[in-house]
Amino acid sequence: MSYDVPSRLEGWHVRHRGAASLEVSDFFLREENLAQPDEGEVLVRTRWLSLDPYLSFAMIGSGDGGASWPVQGRIIGEVVQSRAENVPVGSTVLGTGQWRDWNVLRSADVDVLPVDPHWPSTVHFGVLGASGLTAWVGMTLAAVQPGETILISAATGPVGSVCGQIARERGARVLGIAGGEEKCRLAVSRYGYDDCLDHRLPGLSDRLVAAAQTGIDVLFENVGAPSLDPALSAIVEGGRVILCGLAAHYRTGDPIALTNFRLILRKHLTMRGFAWTEHRDMHPAGRAWLTERLAEGTLAYDETVSTGLPQAAEAYVAMLSGKGLGKHLLQLP
Ligand SMILES: NC(=O)c1ccc[n+]([C@@H]2O[C@H](COP(=O)([O-])OP(=O)(O)OC[C@H]3O[C@@H](n4cnc5c(N)ncnc54)[C@H](OP(=O)(O)O)[C@@H]3O)[C@@H](O)[C@H]2O)c1
Repeated sequence: MSYDVPSRLEGWHVRHRGAASLEVSDFFLREENLAQPDEGEVLVRTRWLSLDPYLSFAMIGSGDGGASWPVQGRIIGEVVQSRAENVPVGSTVLGTGQWRDWNVLRSADVDVLPVDPHWPSTVHFGVLGASGLTAWVGMTLAAVQPGETILISAATGPVGSVCGQIARERGARVLGIAGGEEKCRLAVSRYGYDDCLDHRLPGLSDRLVAAAQTGIDVLFENVGAPSLDPALSAIVEGGRVILCGLAAHYRTGDPIALTNFRLILRKHLTMRGFAWTEHRDMHPAGRAWLTERLAEGTLAYDETVSTGLPQAAEAYVAMLSGKGLGKHLLQLP
């Protein structure tokens, strides 16, 4: 395919308001120059943007009035020019780039994706990439045993949905927390959960205690205080908390308050945070498990796809508000 490579192009920026919420109006398109690739760099036609919750941390900024950030996150694209031997023209690569149609990236910072006719390249953002491996690493650290009860928050998200399926295969009783009736229904019908509680309904703490029956042995926390705090009431003595993410808190630097903090001491709980990138020794087994289940068609995953660069801000804010399902992506035709 031949391309007309522009010398100037539009890219998304976001104003730093330092506020706890991101609005579509915080984002704006700005025209900028496109550099030529230097030695060791490649020119990439961006095809996919991964709309990830953690980006909102940088989007909010420090609120220093007037400053803005050229939004950059994980992208997948096609190499159109290459000045790097190891990344040929025509390769599909995954790297970190700006939210715009073209990016110049250092070859050392991109992964060349394998061509696989069985699934789309976007699985490398989600189920076969960071989300799937995060679930695998976190569940390995959780070491959930047959017959134990595990509770997973953001149960139907890219990470939570894989956690549910791993926990089920390991013989655990799997409880989830998700936002809304539809997500809770899918958690049970599609992602291996035995039960799922809607955090938008009142009385989550009491409902968790009732659903946990003999208690929660492991809590896999993706969200933060809104689920961790009530879950502490339902966790067993000596229970484990795997702290994977704080999706409810990325948009604010405010202190995180836990009414039930004392229960961590009183119940002798262990809480462990982790970063999936710090456990590379676990990745080969995780990749093998995920690839095998995907090839068999026994690993369920979902994607919510929006189309066109102008839709990026709206699609991102919709993802943050819990709309859609699974991995949120923007396709650039
Ligand atoms: N430790 C690591 O190495 C690592 C790596 C990758 C990701 N992570 C983290 O893992 C977590 C899951 O990642 P993901 O990509 O699968 O994201 P995700 O589940 O799509 O996260 C967003 C979801 O969090 C829930 N949420 C957000 N604010 C909430 C609130 N105030 N109250 C209740 N629920 C809220 C919503 O789910 P509902 O609509 O169901 O309410 C929302 O859809 C994130 O925190 C992410 O940052 C960690």
